Amino acid sequence: MAAAPHNPKAKPPVSVASDELPLAKPVDHVPDGSLASLREQAAECQACPLWRNATQTVFGAGNPRARVMLIGEQPGNQEDLEGKPFVGPAGKLLRSALDAAGIATRDLYVTNTVKHFKFERRGKLRIHKRASASEQAACRPWLAAELLRVQPDLIVALGAMAAQTVFGNGFRLTAERGVWHPLPGGRRGMATWHPSAILRMPVEGREQAREEFFADIEALAAAMPE
Ligand code: URA
Repeated sequence: MAAAPHNPKAKPPVSVASDELPLAKPVDHVPDGSLASLREQAAECQACPLWRNATQTVFGAGNPRARVMLIGEQPGNQEDLEGKPFVGPAGKLLRSALDAAGIATRDLYVTNTVKHFKFERRGKLRIHKRASASEQAACRPWLAAELLRVQPDLIVALGAMAAQTVFGNGFRLTAERGVWHPLPGGRRGMATWHPSAILRMPVEGREQAREEFFADIEALAAAMPE
């Protein structure tokens, strides 16, 4: 067999067992290739049933060399139609917090734990449904691959699904929100409210959660490398 051509720019292959992977939940394989190739591969993903009803795979987007990765939960209706993460109402709230903290989107890579929209139809509406544990597990190799390609220093999990994927099932957003935790590979991670959760909260708690979310994004700005 011919030896693989030497590519001095290629990153060395990283094994799944690598303690560099900042995910508490297991992945059984990590797809190979550049982010562009991963995006193409993910577009064909049928590892769980969600591809059947979704319009398209919503892969991560942003700066492939970003020092910061934001991880959401799963695409919503608007993201499913446009094929980009955080372009709907949750994205609008996220962008307000980033703007207020002076964080430019060009400095970020933004993705989701699950890359297909899950919904149930009610009349003409498509109502968001939370991806199951097995759907999350089936999608995790894509997130692992994005983490290994981008190699962010700072990871912010938006909402409980992302937080538990990064920090483990014992993670409680209500108790540990806004706290930086060490992660494998010398990285740090923090979890905060998911902007969609804030938008769905009853009025009484919503303003406080919004303030906490904005404060956490400010803390991210303070922790970002110059
Ligand atoms: N909620 C998410 O978690 N991700 C999106 O991309 C949109 C809404």
